[in-house]
Amino acid sequence: MRFNRSIILVAACAAAVLALPVRSQAPLADDTHENEGDGRVVKGFAIAPVPLNLQGRNRPLVGLGSYLVNAVGGCNDCHTHPNFAAGGDPYQGQPTQINTANYLAGGRQFGPFVSRNLTPEAPSGRPAGLTLAQFTDVLRNGTDYDNLHPQISPLLQVMPWPVYHNLTDHDIRAIYEFLSAIPHAETGPVGP
Ligand code: HEC
Repeated sequence: MRFNRSIILVAACAAAVLALPVRSQAPLADDTHENEGDGRVVKGFAIAPVPLNLQGRNRPLVGLGSYLVNAVGGCNDCHTHPNFAAGGDPYQGQPTQINTANYLAGGRQFGPFVSRNLTPEAPSGRPAGLTLAQFTDVLRNGTDYDNLHPQISPLLQVMPWPVYHNLTDHDIRAIYEFLSAIPHAETGPVGP
């Protein structure tokens, strides 16, 4: 009797382990389920304006990153130029349609500064060609790894890194994971 019960217990435990969702990547220490449950991941996938390549990606992080980029961070405002597709400008009372052809590919001009292309670069597939460590450094400290205007400043200008500075490491990683999953796009005509 005792023996039978422990067999049932072992079987039940094995079934529970097998029922765990399979992930493409080992779960990370701070990759919690809270994230999946509070609606931001689902919302993030719903509002992503471009198809996402989830292969080899951490799915909840991509969804959260999309939420942070498309609903909170306003990255699109400056890094997609022009912002909206023809006939999709909400400021003209039209139903919003993001310009997906140049989504996050930069090209918006602010005086001497131009927003950069954030999409994955070939062949590394890294967003803006940056490693996660470099990307984190950009968002925290405004480091300009391309050093495009040393005569003005070694630091990125206009880019609100003094605000993104306050993001958690987890959120920065989520943004990076999302930017790794979007399609590469070429910068359109540069302009204000
Ligand atoms: C107010 C406009 C603005 C917003 C909003 C903005 N950026 Fe930027 N960003 C810029 C500009 C302009 C540059 C280039 C600055 C320069 O040349 O000094 C830049 C540069 C960058 C770079 C450096 C890229 C490289 O190749 O080194 C990264 C990364 C970046 N932005 C990411 C983001 C992300 C992620 C968001 C949203 C969370 C965001 N930006 C929101 C304007 C903006």
